Amino acid sequence: MISVKSVSKSFGDKKVLKDLSLQINDGEIVGLYGESGCGKSTLAKIMCGVEVADGGELFIDGVLVLSAKKYDRKAGKLIQMVYQQPFSALDPSQKVGSALYEIVKYNRLAKSRADIKKIAYKVAVMMGIERILNQLPSEISGGEAQRVNLAMSLMLSPKLLILDEATSMLDLSTQAEVLAKVKQIVETDRIAVLFISHDKELVNYFCDRVYSYENYNVKEIHL
Ligand SMILES: Nc1ncnc2c1ncn2[C@@H]1O[C@H](COP(=O)(O)OP(=O)(O)OP(=O)(O)O)[C@@H](O)[C@H]1O
Ligand SMILES: [Mg+2]
Repeated sequence: MISVKSVSKSFGDKKVLKDLSLQINDGEIVGLYGESGCGKSTLAKIMCGVEVADGGELFIDGVLVLSAKKYDRKAGKLIQMVYQQPFSALDPSQKVGSALYEIVKYNRLAKSRADIKKIAYKVAVMMGIERILNQLPSEISGGEAQRVNLAMSLMLSPKLLILDEATSMLDLSTQAEVLAKVKQIVETDRIAVLFISHDKELVNYFCDRVYSYENYNVKEIHL
């Protein structure tokens, strides 16, 4: 279970988050919506350690992982984020397969070449990208790129996957395809998902529980 407790954040004298708390259970897809500029990405960045909060804490299964003073790098890997721009996190000169192998190697998930390939291939099959491993980012579609990003995140067996407008650049049918994959993984691996979007209908449709932004804070919406 992921618990965010009393997170606050200001940029200069601009208040963005105030005393915000929320919870995401294992195997649960939790939505977060709010208008543009309200602080959704700021919260996501704080949760994955990219941005530092002024105050507040994040716990994974009751263990303190993140606060204004502490960042547990190892536990931090348990929270992975996929961004809105499908190509922003991909190296244009690196083939899809090689990007996946690199994550396995860098995170020491396997040592031998054969094992590295096996792990990467398994995730690639799960995301349906096993046929594009020899292609460069410029040779794949936005939907495929977003599935590569998901594969890269899922390879680290996260407890929490944050999708920050991760499907909003995709057309409706590709979006449905990517979300179906996410749902399948949530069901098999019981990971928690924070699904951030300004699309209220999509959030209500896709998520088990939903929070909405209000006054620098979130409120649970009863669907
Ligand atoms: N590094 C920063 N320095 C100063 N202000 C920032 C910084 N990052 C975000 N902000 C401000 O904080 C507010 C919240 O930004 P954030 O990106 O979290 O919004 P958002 O809800 O994700 O919006 P969108 O739906 O457009 O993605 C905005 O007013 C933004 O201008
Ligand atoms: Mg944002």
